[in-house]
Amino acid sequence: MPFLYLLLGAIQNTLGADPAKELALETGRWTLRFLLMSLAITPMRELMGLTGAAPLRRTLGLFALFYASLHFVVYVVFLLELRWFEVGDDILERPYITVGFVSFLILAAMGATSPKRMVRLMGRRWKPLHRLVYVAAILGVLHLTWILRTDVFDAVFYGTLLVLLLGYRLVQYFRRQARRSNRAGASSVSSQ
Ligand code: HEM
Repeated sequence: MPFLYLLLGAIQNTLGADPAKELALETGRWTLRFLLMSLAITPMRELMGLTGAAPLRRTLGLFALFYASLHFVVYVVFLLELRWFEVGDDILERPYITVGFVSFLILAAMGATSPKRMVRLMGRRWKPLHRLVYVAAILGVLHLTWILRTDVFDAVFYGTLLVLLLGYRLVQYFRRQARRSNRAGASSVSSQ
C-alpha cells in the first residue's frame, strides 16, 4: 500500500515541492516501521497469546527489506542522479550513510537466508545471523537520528519503540537465565 501510494504520488506529481526527497524520506520511514513491526510480533505473541502471528515476523521483515531496497534505489537514482561511483565515498565519508548501509546489508543477508531451504542449510549458524535484526534496527534509528536536523519527534518516537521492544527481550532473557540457574541449583541440592 505505501509503495502504491508513493508510486501514484510520483506519477501524479503530488509528492510536494521536492518529490525525490519525499520518496527518500518515506521509503526510509517505511523500512523502519516494518522492521519495528516485525520485532513487535514476538512480544505480541507472548503477551496476548497470538500464537498464529509467528509467520508474520518473516513477512514484515521481508517488507522492511523491500522498502530498504527501494530507499537505496531512490538514493542512487534521484539523490545521486545515478553517479554510482559516489556511493562508496558517501559510505566512507558520511557516518549516517555508513550506518544506514550496514543496516541495509544486514537486512539483505537476512532476506537471502530466509527461505526454508537456507534455514536447513545454515543449521546452527542461522539463529546468530538473524539476531542481527536488533543491530539493524538500532542502526536504523541511529541513521534517522543523525539525519534529523530540526524535528526530533521521529527520533524520540522510533527510539522509544525500539527501547521498549529490546527491553522486553532483555527482561525475558534474564528471566530465562534466572529460571535455569534456579533449576540447576535445585537439581544439585536433590542429588546431594
Ligand atoms: C542503503 C543504505 C541507506 C542509504 C544510502 C540511506 C540514505 C538516506 C538518505 C539520503 C535519506 C534522506 C536524508 C535527507 O535528505 O534528509 C534517508 C532518510 C531516511 N532513512 Fe535511510 N539510507 C539507507 C538505509 C536505511 C535503512 C536500512 C533504514 C531503516 C532501517 C533507513 C531509514 C531512514 C529513515 C527513517 C529516513 C527518514 C529520516 C527523516 O525522517 O528525516 N535508511 N536515508
